[in-house]
Amino acid sequence: MLDPLKNALATSLPPDVLYWMRSVKRAIMFEPPLPWPYGPSSGSSSSANTGGSTQGSTLALAIAAPSVDDADDGRIIQDIALEKYSARQLPSPGAYYSYADILILPAQEIAKTLTLCVQYINSAHVNGDIAEFGTMGGFSARAIATSMVFDLQRQPLGKSASGENPFRILRLFDSFEGLPEITSPVDQVAPHVISGAWAKGGCKVLAAPQLRALIGKIIPPHRFQLYEGWFADTVKTLPPETRFAMIHFDGDLYQSTMDALVPLFERGMISTGAILCFDDWNANRAIPTTGERQAWKELVEMFAIEASNGGDYSVGGTRFIIHSYRGIPADPL
Ligand SMILES: C[S@@+](CC[C@H](N)C(=O)[O-])C[C@H]1O[C@@H](n2cnc3c(N)ncnc32)[C@H](O)[C@@H]1O
Repeated sequence: MLDPLKNALATSLPPDVLYWMRSVKRAIMFEPPLPWPYGPSSGSSSSANTGGSTQGSTLALAIAAPSVDDADDGRIIQDIALEKYSARQLPSPGAYYSYADILILPAQEIAKTLTLCVQYINSAHVNGDIAEFGTMGGFSARAIATSMVFDLQRQPLGKSASGENPFRILRLFDSFEGLPEITSPVDQVAPHVISGAWAKGGCKVLAAPQLRALIGKIIPPHRFQLYEGWFADTVKTLPPETRFAMIHFDGDLYQSTMDALVPLFERGMISTGAILCFDDWNANRAIPTTGERQAWKELVEMFAIEASNGGDYSVGGTRFIIHSYRGIPADPL
């Protein structure tokens, strides 16, 4: 009964009236508005308010998304903004973050950075997979996996001959037993270790099957792999042809950083242009002789790494783009 009525309306009503009716229905259903499909000359207000027909108007193929700041009275954005400013209709600096935002902001910033890094390796055609060292609750692994959803569309050089398989795999490393025993003298004097914030068994959250189930809801099983065990052991199991375009390092300790990254540089597994994110760069009061800062200093020296700092992010992270190092592999054509 409804369908014939819908069809009759769809064929008899002018297109802009139909658009208006559908928009009202979507607003009632809490759905986002439809894009305005007509040329700029027939604004939504005139036709919708009058119910007048624009049957003769051309449906624009290119859809111009109307901005909330667009005025139809000929004023420019500056005029509108200054008027709103004088009328105190704009948010004041003190109102930018509510107390509810405050807790989530650091995590949002991390997710944003990881998302942009995945987009960077795709747009810059950096060769290889993505690794995360330190998965704990799977928060950052989920952010990376979600960012990889569009790899197929974003990796022009990465498609298989059939065009079906994006080449990047998300390789997730963790003991799933929390932090290791803290044996290195560098870590033993670090404030986070002395305070007990970092201790053996700390940061144990998800078991491997739980992480697998989480990530398996985002990308298919052939696009990710879990490496269960200590970094020093599991990195050795990577086949020699493995390459990384992006590494998210979140294993906290100096020793864990070295255990993961020394073998990867030694084996030439880090590609030209790869982006390395260090989540705990500013841990331990950012003392340069602790944690990831000390590890990076030693890695740069050991492998003559040339890299650019890609900027700090969130409250504790920084990232580097690798240009070259001793033993860097030639890129595939
Ligand atoms: C801060 S948590 C990671 C947080 C995680 N990225 C998240 O989003 O929930 C640190 C993780 O590193 C792991 N880890 C640290 N050192 C390790 C090592 N040497 N080998 C294996 N896992 C290690 C711990 O088990 C822990 O899960």
